[in-house]
Amino acid sequence: MPKIASGRSLEAIDQAVALLNAGQLIGLPTETVYGLAADAGNPEAVRKIFAAKGRPADHPLIVHVGADALLTHYAREIPDTAWVLAEAFWPGPLTMILKKAPGVLDEVTGGQDTVGVRMPGHPVALSLLRTFAEAQCQAGKSGGGLAAPSANRFGRISPTMAQHVADELGDAVPLILDGDDCQVGIESTIVDLSRDKPIILRPGAVTAEQLSLVLGAPVAIESAVASDTPRVSGSLAAHYAPQTPLQVGDAAMIAQALQKSPSIAAIVRDDAGLKPQPNVVVLANHPVAYAHDLYRVLRELDSGAYTQILVQALPDSVAWGAVHDRLARAAHRDGSDKD
Ligand code: TXA
Ligand code: MG
Repeated sequence: MPKIASGRSLEAIDQAVALLNAGQLIGLPTETVYGLAADAGNPEAVRKIFAAKGRPADHPLIVHVGADALLTHYAREIPDTAWVLAEAFWPGPLTMILKKAPGVLDEVTGGQDTVGVRMPGHPVALSLLRTFAEAQCQAGKSGGGLAAPSANRFGRISPTMAQHVADELGDAVPLILDGDDCQVGIESTIVDLSRDKPIILRPGAVTAEQLSLVLGAPVAIESAVASDTPRVSGSLAAHYAPQTPLQVGDAAMIAQALQKSPSIAAIVRDDAGLKPQPNVVVLANHPVAYAHDLYRVLRELDSGAYTQILVQALPDSVAWGAVHDRLARAAHRDGSDKD
């Protein structure tokens, strides 16, 4: 099994940098979910990510950076909006899609003309990114970004704890930096700035309202159904699915189903009037707290021997938008295109 080491230890950071320099992969905590990181400038290392995840090679990866200035290394024709958003939301759960700079590897972009860039808001991630960039600089290399998708196997739930990464990827990742459980718990907001108008490709903790406020113009959310190509692999319908069938229903339906069958598990909110049991998880009736726990709870219930997971339908307000998105994908099981 892989080694899990505290990301707060400078020795572990140095070890991680040495592995990255040697073209190896690292399990990396971020504030959203754990990532599986490789040197974004090393094509062989990046290819190892796809092999470890079992992910198709044309699905692009996000480049993680430790400084705003690195944007110019990975992107070209950077609009002012990108600098404004970086200033407002980085380090944090926002990924920007920009036109890619000429040197960016096709392995990273999946052959597209754009690149996703994000500065994660987790002290361990930032410490690794900055130490790695410094080491690259000393070796006379420019860049210093880390290509990192979520550290789950293709089609599975993103990991929010170091142990999840070990469970998912085993020996494919020699070292996992432990940064405790992820504060946000769902993947970053992705905003595409490479088109005429900014558009959200994946909702997340940074909301459309927050982006609109900072940019002084409305920012729309692209509907996954409307998009003709799966540019964001997370937009494939069956993404983030647990293996146990998952269904959304109201509290009364769930209470009834639980009475009938002991093999059913449920995730409800604390307004449902149900008591916590081994098979009944009660989450906070608040989107931020709910997002923090959702993937961990899905993972735990998925590993139990339940025939079905029932989830209480979420409130319809925009504040629940990102959680809604992830739950809808988890419930959708057409067995095809998984990421
Ligand atoms: O919170 C996050 O974003 C996490 C942490 C580790 O940073 N990362 C993450 O990576 O969720 P991944 O690969 O699991 O999801 C990133 C999504 C993918 O669906 C990918 O298709 C999309 O970003 N993406 C990356 N580059 C893109 C591009 N140039 N154009 C459109 N979509 C892109
Ligand atoms: Mg992912």
